[in-house]
Amino acid sequence: MANDSEPFSEKLRVPEALTFDDVLLRPKESRMEPDEADTATRVSKGVELNVPVLTAAMDTVTESDMAIAMARQGGLGVLHRNMDADRMAAEIGRVKRYDELIIRNVVTAHPEQTVREVDSMMDHKGVSGAPVVDDETGEVLGIISGTDIRPYLEVGESDAVTEAMTDEVITASEDVTPREALELMYDHKIERVPIVDEANRLVGLITMRGVLKRREYDDAARDEDGHLRVGAAVGPFEVDRAEAADEAGADVLFIDCAHAHNANVIDSAREIKATVEADVVVGNIGTREAAEAVVDFADGVKVGIGPGSICTTRVVTGAGMPQITAVSQVADVASQHDVPVIADGGIRYSGDAIKAIAAGADAVMLGSYFAGTDEAPGRVIQMNGKKYKQYRGMGSVGAMSEGGGERYLKEDDEDDYVPEGVEAATPYKGSLASELHQLVGGMQSGMGYVGAETIPEFKQRAEFVRISAAGQQESHPHDVMITDEAPNYSPDS
Ligand code: XMP
Repeated sequence: MANDSEPFSEKLRVPEALTFDDVLLRPKESRMEPDEADTATRVSKGVELNVPVLTAAMDTVTESDMAIAMARQGGLGVLHRNMDADRMAAEIGRVKRYDELIIRNVVTAHPEQTVREVDSMMDHKGVSGAPVVDDETGEVLGIISGTDIRPYLEVGESDAVTEAMTDEVITASEDVTPREALELMYDHKIERVPIVDEANRLVGLITMRGVLKRREYDDAARDEDGHLRVGAAVGPFEVDRAEAADEAGADVLFIDCAHAHNANVIDSAREIKATVEADVVVGNIGTREAAEAVVDFADGVKVGIGPGSICTTRVVTGAGMPQITAVSQVADVASQHDVPVIADGGIRYSGDAIKAIAAGADAVMLGSYFAGTDEAPGRVIQMNGKKYKQYRGMGSVGAMSEGGGERYLKEDDEDDYVPEGVEAATPYKGSLASELHQLVGGMQSGMGYVGAETIPEFKQRAEFVRISAAGQQESHPHDVMITDEAPNYSPDS
């Protein structure tokens, strides 16, 4: 602070802060191919991912559809908090149950039902088989499938289902692995295995379709019980929501604040951390001192003060920190305490994402990059013959009027909002999987140029060069007219 001995003009001896377009990765000798680059990382102290990418906690980016798609691909979706705690718990539950190996809500048949009744019940519920369960004891008596019924082999439509069912049922216990379940199915030429307790009571069902579906997602982010992982945003003072999200099974809670280097926010974040089982990531921050204030309790820190595509924080408040410098300052401190760093906002290209990792981040969070995908909330809109989806800042008037204001530590009435974000449209992009493929593929290529096979090795080995405006211009396609759009480059990004 300026005082008598420190003239105000001293304030203009300012340090330089850099962002994505100011730097490039210096190419280095490489002994690997980009495809060999392993992108596994940690997003918080207790949560590892195979893909170092998170989707933003924004109401036009991440609800359960996005979180499911992200976790299946190996990343993490962070549910936004413009919904009440009950709905958030339901969304978390939906992600957790989605790729469940053991189906808990099993459609069952009862011994007194007729073949016709069971046939129409299975049709109605959209299943092709059902365990037959004793109503009183809950024991599995047999299993019935469409093939037992449809040809009405030796039974009539009005016979009891017990006449048609297979009564030598192959069952397994709850600790069966996907591989063991599949072996049982192949060995016995069956498509479903009821899961039973010690008293042969039905507790769940594993289907061949379910096991094979899971196999398509080898890199998926799963918890110890095999459920998809999911993150959830909680407001800086929302202890109740944090508890509800934790109870519903969220793996990581993200304290969702535009300026987390605030004593009240930090006190509340500490309280939340002491209350919940889930990991707690604190954000957003953008300086060394902010990192120092939270690394003693945070399981991760999130960096980004105003870099986002829909953010107006820097122009409205005059405050902010260019993202490459912000990430590197926070990472200096966080790495000393083994706390993972997430770079949040401002990433337009895969090259930006891998630069953020080179600057010290362990993972990146993106909003605009994914807002145009099928899995983001909202419908596709047509404008001038082109397809778009809505994308808006959580500090925009529209989002704040639906509950987002707390992120900006404001409780104004709608007429008094001082927004820090805009409402916009972003080009429609199709499936998340193909967008993520381009993003991660580009990041792997960046690792290849630096010759680093893993994220930790890359963070150590990567060096930056500073580029001029002319260098920046040279980096983009120039002196040509682009005739065919590339899947990973748009001059408007
Ligand atoms: P991108 O650039 O990926 O940024 O679209 C997404 C991140 O931007 C932050 N965010 C905001 N920042 N005003 C802001 O200053 C806003 O209205 C706003 N909404 C989101 C947030 O960190 C998000 O992950």
